[in-house]
Amino acid sequence: MVDEIYPVRWEDGKVVMIDQTLLPAEHKEKSTGSCNEVAEWIETMVVRGAPAIGVAAAYGMALAANDLRDKSRDDFDKGLLKARDRLARTRPTAVNLFWVLNRINELIEINPHVNPNEMADKVLTEAEAIRDEDLKMCMTIGKYGAELLPDEGGVLTHCNAGALATAGYGTAVGVLRAAWEMGKKIHVYSDETRPRLQGACLTCWELDRMKIPFTMITDSMAGHFMQKGNIRLAVTGADRVAANGDSANKIGTYTVAILCKEHGLPFYIAAPFSTIDFDCPDGSCIPIEERDREEVLCIIPGGDTYDHINVANPGFDVTPHKYITAIITDRGVAYPPFSESLEKLREIP
Ligand code: MRU
Repeated sequence: MVDEIYPVRWEDGKVVMIDQTLLPAEHKEKSTGSCNEVAEWIETMVVRGAPAIGVAAAYGMALAANDLRDKSRDDFDKGLLKARDRLARTRPTAVNLFWVLNRINELIEINPHVNPNEMADKVLTEAEAIRDEDLKMCMTIGKYGAELLPDEGGVLTHCNAGALATAGYGTAVGVLRAAWEMGKKIHVYSDETRPRLQGACLTCWELDRMKIPFTMITDSMAGHFMQKGNIRLAVTGADRVAANGDSANKIGTYTVAILCKEHGLPFYIAAPFSTIDFDCPDGSCIPIEERDREEVLCIIPGGDTYDHINVANPGFDVTPHKYITAIITDRGVAYPPFSESLEKLREIP
């Protein structure tokens, strides 16, 4: 039996989150009643991973709405707009954040005559629905994805697209979990994922809890293990998928996809359908977050003496669709040409 992980939840009028910055050393939760604090926790990566950021933002809106119960409807709307703007400024790449904020905005717009007290209940109900739907979507992705995995062999994943990165269960790690639970004898290779080490700190922690066999490798070892025949395919999550299939994910994913191409291995993206941004025709319009240089420097002994050197820290890269074998979504598996297959999945109610 797997001890389930739910990184974000609502309890007694507060948002409770697993503090992912402490893992694997400490498994601790912290809670807040403030929407601003939720925004800060998204920025500082207490919670991270595209779908989990979306769920956290939904609960952030519910907290903001809670504080506005006694206001006039006009002030309620203004307050929620402010909360939405604050949350929207946290992390630019994961489209799930904006998808959630738009969904709650629509809820407010279609209920112009409902009083703030009732509206606050509605926003919370919507946030709970977003969380529940994400959990279900992940399980469906797991089911579809597991079918694509071989009965045995090595599978590479990059960053963390596990339960911690979603409402629970995970996307790419959900695929690995479902395959393992089906009896497939997989062995996971988990890239450590510099600079924030989500692979080493979060994916390895999750795999260890689930007792799925795995080996932690540094990012630069992936090619070596493909060349030796240890890895048969790669599967990662995504933060935003453009209409043509170009996919943004954690920095280093593009390199993994190219390595797969060179070695003739499949490269899969696993993501909920809400990660597909049809307003974005191709990868060139996906905004890439540039994070603090300290994240790169902090593990270097004497990194603080490097004030004068240039350091780049893009959080994500874009894998062109031509390197992607398939995109595994909760609506089904999309194959190239993605502009057609994703559009077809869009028509499913
Ligand atoms: O910077 P992070 O940790 O939020 O980046 C996370 C990723 O890149 C994940 O692979 C992606 O969000 C998919 S999570 C299901």
